[in-house]
Amino acid sequence: MRIVMIGTGYVGLVSGACFADFGHEVTCVDKDAGKVDALLGGTIPIFEPGLEDLVARNVAARRLRFTLDLTEAVPNADAVFIAVGTPSRRGDGHADLSYVHAAAKEMAEHLRPGAVVVTKSTVPVGTGDEVERIIREARPDLEFSVASNPEFLREGAAIEDFKRPDRIVIGVTDDHARTVLQEVYRPLIRNESPLLVMARRAAELTKYAGNAFLATKISFINEIADLCERVGADVQDVAKGIGLDDRIGPKFLMAGPGYGGSCFPKDTLALLKTSHDYEAPLRIVEAVVLANDNRKRAMGRKVVQAIGGDAHGKTVGLLGLTFKANTDDMRDSPALAIVQALQDAGATVRAYDPEGMEQAAKLLDDVTYCGDAYEALQGAHAAVIVTEWDTFRALDFDRMKGLLAESLLVDLRNLYNREEVERHGFRYVAVGR
Ligand code: UDX
Repeated sequence: MRIVMIGTGYVGLVSGACFADFGHEVTCVDKDAGKVDALLGGTIPIFEPGLEDLVARNVAARRLRFTLDLTEAVPNADAVFIAVGTPSRRGDGHADLSYVHAAAKEMAEHLRPGAVVVTKSTVPVGTGDEVERIIREARPDLEFSVASNPEFLREGAAIEDFKRPDRIVIGVTDDHARTVLQEVYRPLIRNESPLLVMARRAAELTKYAGNAFLATKISFINEIADLCERVGADVQDVAKGIGLDDRIGPKFLMAGPGYGGSCFPKDTLALLKTSHDYEAPLRIVEAVVLANDNRKRAMGRKVVQAIGGDAHGKTVGLLGLTFKANTDDMRDSPALAIVQALQDAGATVRAYDPEGMEQAAKLLDDVTYCGDAYEALQGAHAAVIVTEWDTFRALDFDRMKGLLAESLLVDLRNLYNREEVERHGFRYVAVGR
């Protein structure tokens, strides 16, 4: 299959490289000359384990190319995937579809008859109709299909998720699109990843409903964690106790500082907009969004409380800044609200993150960025684990003691056992325990 991938962001680049790895001929198109130059030079603009090797291997095999010029690749393509960004529109939280619409407009006159245009970006219900309308307007006589194929990969585990998905969802309006997409995904279907074929609108909604449900699980367990603290229960016991019920499932029940990242915050808001537009209230999702927003700042206050309620003249050492481990992504990271709350309370903030400090420096003022975890704890009145990086799972407590002004560990990811930490003479504050 000849595939064009428009957009070399997270989803576009990973999907493009994986499709090439399946043996398809893939051209990735991006408007950002800097990005394309970097990719042509073998530099990957995002941090994702394994991606650099995967790209290099497929470029070397001539199955994967990068270009600025959509017009050279689209005329030969059997399938053109749209994987451009759909950020939250400033002001109203609607998904901003201008990049999606622009891509449809630009590709329209270059599509060959029979081409299948596939939205892979997370797009609100009805976007497929709009893409079809835009292309139809430019090419009234062209035979083409528009399909939806939402992507469920997670940052940090993107390649594994793409190659071994729980399911592949495609939304189509005709058999031709179905056949082409089945061919595109044949290597995975052979590996027994189920392929669900449904109507285009259902596929579009599936992605949002999935993310909103996962966000709900997280906000739910986070509120249960707060209750656990009050009643003297351990949220990890409760999570295990409910998670072993097949109907609930054990995943996404880790209490923490709240969800962040490029998807959950943006997609839950966009889903709420859709629900308002169609006058079908999603009260549960509304509550989830509210609970998560409150939680992020509450975690900052939790730290302030742990250091005695007055943070003036105190220093806090943050371990981790990204919204989760194995990414350099700072978008909507709880760390942003935590740092803000700490600084508002008068604290000085030092921080270390293995990958996220460059991005963090663009978003956070007055933070001292350090070369490693121990440097971040120098003179601090608390060590605070914000992100569950592996490197924070085996901290040297004796060394920390020598550096910290107070032996206090606030573990917002529940990485440690209370007994273990207290045995080293530390005070331990965790989440929901
Ligand atoms: C998510 C979805 O998982 C993925 O299917 C979709 O395609 C994109 O959005 P991602 O944003 O990469 O992926 O991260 P994910 O691993 O899902 O974590 C999201 C947030 O939830 C993180 O901030 C994480 O720390 C938090 N989380 C996750 C919890 O707080 N507790 C959990 O149990 C799980």
